[in-house]
Amino acid sequence: MNSKHFAIRTYGCQMNVHDSEKVSTLLEDSGLIAAASESEADVLVINTCSIRDKAEHQLYSDLGRLREWKAEKPGRIVGVGGCVAQQVGDKLLSRFSHLDFVFGTHNLRRVPAMLAGALEGNRAAWVAEDKSQARFDLPMRRPQVPTGIRRKAFVTVMEGCDMFCSFCIVPSTRGREISRRASEIEAEVHALVDSGILEITLLGQTVNAYGRHDVRRGNAVAAGTMPFAELLTRLNDIPGLERIRYTSPHPLFFDDDLIRAHQELGGLCPHVHLPVQSGSDRILEAMRRRYTRDHYLGIVEGLRQARPDLALTSDLIVGFPGETDADFEQTLDLVRDAGLIDSFSFKYSPRPGTAAAEMGEEIPAELAQERLMRLQDLQREQTLAYHQSRVGQEALVLIDGASRHGGGQISGRDPHHRVVNLDAGADLGLEPGTIVAARILEATPHSLLGTPLLPAG
Ligand code: 5AD
Ligand code: SF4
Repeated sequence: MNSKHFAIRTYGCQMNVHDSEKVSTLLEDSGLIAAASESEADVLVINTCSIRDKAEHQLYSDLGRLREWKAEKPGRIVGVGGCVAQQVGDKLLSRFSHLDFVFGTHNLRRVPAMLAGALEGNRAAWVAEDKSQARFDLPMRRPQVPTGIRRKAFVTVMEGCDMFCSFCIVPSTRGREISRRASEIEAEVHALVDSGILEITLLGQTVNAYGRHDVRRGNAVAAGTMPFAELLTRLNDIPGLERIRYTSPHPLFFDDDLIRAHQELGGLCPHVHLPVQSGSDRILEAMRRRYTRDHYLGIVEGLRQARPDLALTSDLIVGFPGETDADFEQTLDLVRDAGLIDSFSFKYSPRPGTAAAEMGEEIPAELAQERLMRLQDLQREQTLAYHQSRVGQEALVLIDGASRHGGGQISGRDPHHRVVNLDAGADLGLEPGTIVAARILEATPHSLLGTPLLPAG
């Protein structure tokens, strides 16, 4: 497969982004070279998302257009992975005759072999569930990317979801919950820090459920796992690791130990993304979220006591079947009461095979759209107010690179995960990957503007 060039198109969540990094590493290890663009690639892998209807349809329109891409250069190969691949499986091969291989969410390791087969004209689909630790056993991602020094990395700690929220397709695309051995996680983080990584984001569909099945069964020691807060404590002890983040936790597993970790662990960032979905107990029950609005607010209060400067963000769904105006008003109230500084909000999208898709009581599309707009207006106001409250403060910014606004500005993230653009950064020669102290000068709806504070002398 030498000298073949590959490109990967990634949709969806951070887990998918990280899976694409893993597939890149596997392909590079088998002698392929990352292409500068898709037009220069011989092999194109699409890593798909099926969380909402729109994301799934993206694949079908992409595949339609790729007929032409394939025809432009004989020998080109197209592979599809991710959640749609897992869901639809080999039916994708019969539906799209120009598709060469399909791999499910547990079968990343098979990609090089499937590609080798495809180059010999064999089309294949692998979507079997892998319940073993072997699926975590992938070559470590090399940190270098063409655009400067990498200082941030994702680390998988658990995969799959056993929650079966009534709206969600993930339990059927990512399979049952499985936690990775803590010793493997620690070894990976050590290696990343040795290679210059300053910040890690621990990934899992319900990341704070880490180890829970082993702990409940009393075999955590044999399984090599532990409660999530304990894992965080261990990682916090690794010298040279500046920042620890995790996504996404579930409110049901947000226990006192995890709240305490936010008080005690210096490396744990003061930002929590804690999806709530709705502010109405009636809807939360229909969603099978297994907590109430009060329970959620109790966690938030505990977190604020532990970390008064906490920045809380969330995911919200509007237009869930049967959602009344009163239910929706409660969601707006919760956005206020919890003091969300930002959120991702979505219109409910029925997913095949989920319990909610069978419920009926659909909300008209225009009403759902109107609710979404009202929710996003409220959020915009709150985000701006939060940004304004930061003006005058100092922040440590981990630089990512040039700002989207251009004009010599550079951009990075503070511990609260806010985007901070720095004036004069480019002139000062601040490199991506450095952490710089800055004073916040201005607030905009999407970001903060700061100026670097240079060490005296
Ligand atoms: N419709 C709309 N939004 C959804 N999400 C998950 N499933 C659906 C669905 N069927 C949202 C949830 C979740 C985020 C990743 O996507 O808010 O937290
Ligand atoms: Fe989906 Fe609920 Fe699992 Fe999150 S916890 S992945 S929303 S089923």
